[in-house]
Amino acid sequence: MTAAPASTLLDRVLVMEMVRVTEAAAIAASRLIGRGDEKAADAAAVEAMRKAFDELQIDGTVVIGEGERDEAPMLYIGEKVGGAQGTGPKIDIALDPLEGTTITAKAGPNALAVLACAEAGNLLNAPDVYMDKLAVGPGYPEGIIDLAKSPTENVKAVAAAKGVEPGDIIVCVLDRPRHADLIAELRGLGCGVALIPDGDVAGVIAVTNPETTIDLYMGQGGAPEGVLAAAALRCVGGQFNGRLVFRNEDERSRARKWGIEDLNKIYKLEELAKGDCIFAATGVTDGSLLDGVKRLKGGTMTTESVVMRASSGTVRWVKGEHHKGG
Ligand code: FBP
Repeated sequence: MTAAPASTLLDRVLVMEMVRVTEAAAIAASRLIGRGDEKAADAAAVEAMRKAFDELQIDGTVVIGEGERDEAPMLYIGEKVGGAQGTGPKIDIALDPLEGTTITAKAGPNALAVLACAEAGNLLNAPDVYMDKLAVGPGYPEGIIDLAKSPTENVKAVAAAKGVEPGDIIVCVLDRPRHADLIAELRGLGCGVALIPDGDVAGVIAVTNPETTIDLYMGQGGAPEGVLAAAALRCVGGQFNGRLVFRNEDERSRARKWGIEDLNKIYKLEELAKGDCIFAATGVTDGSLLDGVKRLKGGTMTTESVVMRASSGTVRWVKGEHHKGG
């Protein structure tokens, strides 16, 4: 049997199926919300997501996952997932079964189960290093943000295009000591700095939602999370620049191993997630993007998910009701 072209499957089946995968991970992780055990929460999400993938008729390969093969028992980089190996469409998958392990352990906001998928070869195989990130929402001229420029220059450019003062711009930044200079520079301009404790996938996506009032995302977070956020922005609009950050030779050699030659390259959206792609996320805890899993009387659980597709720009919000034993 000839394998179906991936685009057909992305069209017809995968969009909704991907939500089942993130729902499964979110539900499993939700049992551990506020229990102070990050590892257990992550492990529960990973196991549930791995199991849910088996139901999908794809020849999937994890390109961004839980780590390298010797570091992660499941959903490691290079692992084959899906029940149609050799026959189904070849799909590359970037995943984070629990984005926000600490948030979940502490019952904080914005923990997500998240994944992105695309035809084989279309997602950057990002090593597990930091990435400098800069994102702005839709509606601005192409190239308005540029990671090669200073935070001040980027804020001023966006403020001018928005028709406001630099001090009116709100920037979301991960609350980390490494961002002290960035935060001081932004506050020096009078900007509002929305500090988040963790979860920069949701932080980057927040720039696309006017209700959050966040104009820009800036700062260093995980590179894998950068690819996931870029896939989402490919679907809903907005601009993103990302540059890998290497702290030592080991990290540089990891990047070369994944075929990255220009270590200083500034990646734009299309270079992180090319062609058609799907982004899906389910809320674990309540957040700016999604409500978290709710456990109701009698064992019923509710979930909220979003699934979007780059080629059509369709965004679907999916409310799930999961009954005991269902
Ligand atoms: P985990 O879910 O793996 O804990 O990641 C949470 C997160 O906040 C990401 O959203 C972010 O990209 C990264 O950690 C930042 O890393 P660090 O905590 O080392 O600053």
